[in-house]
Amino acid sequence: MKESIQALRQEIEAATLTDLASVEQFRLSYVAKQGKVNALFADFKQVPAEDRKAIGALLNELKDLATDRWKVAQTALEDQLPAGDVPQDLSLPDIIGRVGSQHPLTIVRQEIIRIFSNIGFNLSEGPEIEDDWHNFGALNFPDNHPAREMQDTFFVARNPDMLLRTHTSSVQARVMQNQKPPIRTLSPGRVYRNEAISARAHCLFHQVEGLYINEGVSFADLKDTLYYFVRELFTPETKIRFRPSFFPFTEPSAEIDISCQICHGEGCNICKHTGWVEIGGSGMVDPNVLSSVGIDPEVYTGYAFGMGIERMAMLKYGVRDLRLFTENDTRFLRQFAALG
Ligand code: DAH
Repeated sequence: MKESIQALRQEIEAATLTDLASVEQFRLSYVAKQGKVNALFADFKQVPAEDRKAIGALLNELKDLATDRWKVAQTALEDQLPAGDVPQDLSLPDIIGRVGSQHPLTIVRQEIIRIFSNIGFNLSEGPEIEDDWHNFGALNFPDNHPAREMQDTFFVARNPDMLLRTHTSSVQARVMQNQKPPIRTLSPGRVYRNEAISARAHCLFHQVEGLYINEGVSFADLKDTLYYFVRELFTPETKIRFRPSFFPFTEPSAEIDISCQICHGEGCNICKHTGWVEIGGSGMVDPNVLSSVGIDPEVYTGYAFGMGIERMAMLKYGVRDLRLFTENDTRFLRQFAALG
């Protein structure tokens, strides 16, 4: 028995495994059930009891040797072949163990929350299906005011008073109704607009709202907070500018622009060759809004801001088409695996 094992061992060691045919022949001769190694295992029954331990060990070694040689040869062959020619079992599931990753919008949202929580902002939420008053009325949009036109949305047919919120500013009204100043809160969430889907617009996107109400809050506080924020989220070199604007719920109001993160001011099609990109709106909370939620505007002042999360993610990661965020293409999403 020992001699047969030794002879087979030499055969296995000497075999040349260079191409598919020789590797397959090797498998049939030494690895397969009907092969020579297994045949020796069948003879094992005749080995006298006192030799069994030693012979058993030799047999097992022989089996491992044959399997290892075959596996190594097989892998080497597959590595040499162009990918398409690798013999494949197409019924196998996709590569197992591929780890999922956070969505880029989730990564940016978490980062924004972290930055504002460092300076004392808490979190608040409101419903996506909102009533007219919280979305418009309380925020000083009179009925039929043209400012509503810019935020057309989807209405609930059975109850025209209900709509999909057009901005996270609706959460401002809810928080101020239920809390006493000082209020310092951040409200991230999904919002909707009646827009055709394109590289720059979507009927569904995400915003983050900020609100600070206290005695003696000024526009300087607003600027200071947003300076801090953009430098943290983007780079310390990022510049910010406030452009006078109009929102019914703030007075004065300003659009927030930051220096283009793609071309750094050189001019590109993302910033339309101006070097600046708008990331949101801001302003001092209009006294009418404070009154409508029962806060005395003679005592308290406050600032608010609302920014687009997609817009910030696009600038941060150089994403040029908004649709990528909702297409679920894993080739796109996988690129953020290391970040989230
Ligand atoms: N809600 C505005 C929009 O969606 C953005 C905005 C502007 C929010 C000014 C604010 C603000 O809080 O003060 O266009």
